[in-house]
Amino acid sequence: MTTNDFIAQAYGPLPSEGSVTWKTPSNIALVKYWGKRNPQLPENPSISFTLDNCHTLTTVTYQKKDVADSSFSFDIFFEGALNEAFKPKIEKFFERIQDYVPFVKDYHFTIASENSFPHSSGIASSASGMSALSMCLMSIEKELLPDMESAYFYQKGSFLARLGSGSACRSVKGRLVVWGAHPEISESSDLYGVPFTDEIAPVFFDYQDTILLVDKGEKQVSSTVGHELMHGHPFAEKRFQQATENLSKLKAILKSGNLSEFVALVESEALTLHAMMMTSHPYFILMKPNTLKILSKIWAFRAATDSQVCFTLDAGANVHLLYPKQELVTVRQFIKDELLEFCQNHHAIHDKVGNGAEQMDLSN
Ligand code: PMV
Repeated sequence: MTTNDFIAQAYGPLPSEGSVTWKTPSNIALVKYWGKRNPQLPENPSISFTLDNCHTLTTVTYQKKDVADSSFSFDIFFEGALNEAFKPKIEKFFERIQDYVPFVKDYHFTIASENSFPHSSGIASSASGMSALSMCLMSIEKELLPDMESAYFYQKGSFLARLGSGSACRSVKGRLVVWGAHPEISESSDLYGVPFTDEIAPVFFDYQDTILLVDKGEKQVSSTVGHELMHGHPFAEKRFQQATENLSKLKAILKSGNLSEFVALVESEALTLHAMMMTSHPYFILMKPNTLKILSKIWAFRAATDSQVCFTLDAGANVHLLYPKQELVTVRQFIKDELLEFCQNHHAIHDKVGNGAEQMDLSN
């Protein structure tokens, strides 16, 4: 598929109004995407676990404008209240996607979104938020083009989500999603995320992710700024190459179910992401003292037990604790006994691998 394949076909008559709802999850990368080029294309391939409990629920109500014009008309409600702060981001998103879903200029939209996780938790909501909005737009397009095939529907949903927030394209499908062309992953593309369809050991089907909320504040460095810092970064080329190699290695690990190798690769990826930010200009340390305390507790716990619990990080201070379901009882106890004290208000969110976006019927 190329970008041109997503340019909209001619539509029939537009319905005057309607409403659609999608629930889409967040995701956590195992091999990280860090560095992009225009328009929102990744410098290296990445792969993530789709999450389950951390999601956004978005309803888009659309009403045909009396007179079509070239502006975008929408109101956005977040958690029940009109939210002006989100408007510029959505306006920019509409600008980027208008050639692919030109009906965005024909309607006034009321977008109502809510997250399952607390807003000020430091969990990025752009992946779930942008994918939910994209899937709503795809449902509207499907009404205009009823013959659209399911594979194309989801691919284009992911394509639109990518234009909203890069990693959002990995939130449309489940369990594991690859974004970025990789020579050993068939169908992989820089344009959208594809489900990882190679063999996966059963241990990964229901992998657990407990998010330890070390810092619930706004991110110190936005991902836009972070990606920008990879331009001219002294280690960038080597890092992009390493991510491609790590994805090849992870492909074999996902098949074999070798958890020691999984732990080593995933933790190294997380620390490499942070190392890129420590060695950019300007430089940043995004971990907090409590992040480091948690990491050393995890290492000590692994050294003292036969646990395969490991961590990954996104571009912030919170820690994602990844572990197989068979360790749920012991790891949850470990979290309670040794890790919650390093979290703001002792707050952690238990999540697990999920299946991706889901259309909701709120009519009854
Ligand atoms: O999708 P963005 O632009 O917010 O970037 C996300 C980058 C990381 O979360 C740090 C890594 C990733 O692959 O999700």
